[in-house]
Amino acid sequence: MRQIEVGIFLPVGNNGYLMSTTSPQYMPTWALQRDLGEAAEALGYDFLFSMAKWRGFGGATRFWDFTLESVSVMTALAACTGRLRLIATMSPPLLHPVVAAKMAATIDHISGGRFGINIVTGSSLAEYEQMGVLPPGYDGYRYAYATEWLTVIKRLWAEPAVDFDGRFFHLRDCVLAPKPIQSPRPFLVCAGVSEEGFRFTAAETDCSFLTARTVADTRTLSSRMKQVAREQGRAIKTATPMLLIIGDSDAAAKAEHQRYLDGIDRDAVDNLYQLVGGSSRPSAKARYERTMSSAAFGGQVIAGSAETVADHIGYLVEGDGIDNILLMFPDYLLGIRIFAERVAPLLRQRGIAALGVTPPAVASDAPPRSGS
Ligand SMILES: Cc1cc2nc3c(=O)[nH]c(=O)nc-3n(C[C@H](O)[C@H](O)[C@H](O)COP(=O)(O)O)c2cc1C
Repeated sequence: MRQIEVGIFLPVGNNGYLMSTTSPQYMPTWALQRDLGEAAEALGYDFLFSMAKWRGFGGATRFWDFTLESVSVMTALAACTGRLRLIATMSPPLLHPVVAAKMAATIDHISGGRFGINIVTGSSLAEYEQMGVLPPGYDGYRYAYATEWLTVIKRLWAEPAVDFDGRFFHLRDCVLAPKPIQSPRPFLVCAGVSEEGFRFTAAETDCSFLTARTVADTRTLSSRMKQVAREQGRAIKTATPMLLIIGDSDAAAKAEHQRYLDGIDRDAVDNLYQLVGGSSRPSAKARYERTMSSAAFGGQVIAGSAETVADHIGYLVEGDGIDNILLMFPDYLLGIRIFAERVAPLLRQRGIAALGVTPPAVASDAPPRSGS
């Protein structure tokens, strides 16, 4: 049996990940995040993941003009869950590494060793430009900056006191206690897909979140990522996000997807392109095209019956393919139940263990789960 971890990409922005006037319209309330966290834990999911967003894309739906802050949400969820791994997003230019290291150690204690960081260097620099925080020429060395930031954090988590003289950070006899509970350190992930992003992810983190245009491309990227990590003497897991529209039949699911496509918020998608395309990154145009053809941010929609969804996941995880999946839904509370009740049993029939038996809740001061 191949074991995969299944996570939920929390809807911390209004309307989740569908950029459409005809998809469910809702605010990213704390009550929703809490209800999802509690339901996910009861249903046997493995992790929750929340993004960081500092500027929305407007349009008719005011897409992501309303977002909850990622680390704050995960801290609160640390206190009201007992088993799920909690991955929050941090951006190096916004948080001094000593502050980030202390926050992560604190949440690791609150959660009993379940905290992880998604390191983002800025998919849309307009988010940071509005704050006036970016050092000159930052786009040219985003991952060099992140590498130094993370080096400082890793040393603070491991050493009694740190002296550091880098290009961006300077520490003198800098101390941090308590250390995180998790051994060897909190879980680290990154979703970089540029050459630098790929190398950073392979060299510094535990899991790469990959997206590509097709399933075959995603598998190819996954095996390339594992190869890059192996060349550096490391092993890395890979994961991919996907928005599931699960219907009673393929036709019903495709009709639901078509309804969302008919209502696509073109202005919001155009604004998304302006904001992420401002840095002329090759990934920006591809993401715009995928979003336009799917009505979903990032474009990873699977619309079909439970069997079709299970087949799709089965293909993704074969061989050197994807290890873990990160799920989005039009209606999250309904979607996470349908996946658990209808898709997970079909995966088991295909030799893929997902959402295993729910282990008993872990007290927040209990020893950590082992890292995966
Ligand atoms: C699952 C997933 C989550 C992401 N979360 C964020 C986020 O919270 N904030 C952000 O600015 N970028 C986020 N990104 C964008 C990536 O961090 C990255 O910048 C993007 O994939 C482009 O790659 P590059 O940085 O190597 O150019 C996310 C991407 C994926 C696939």
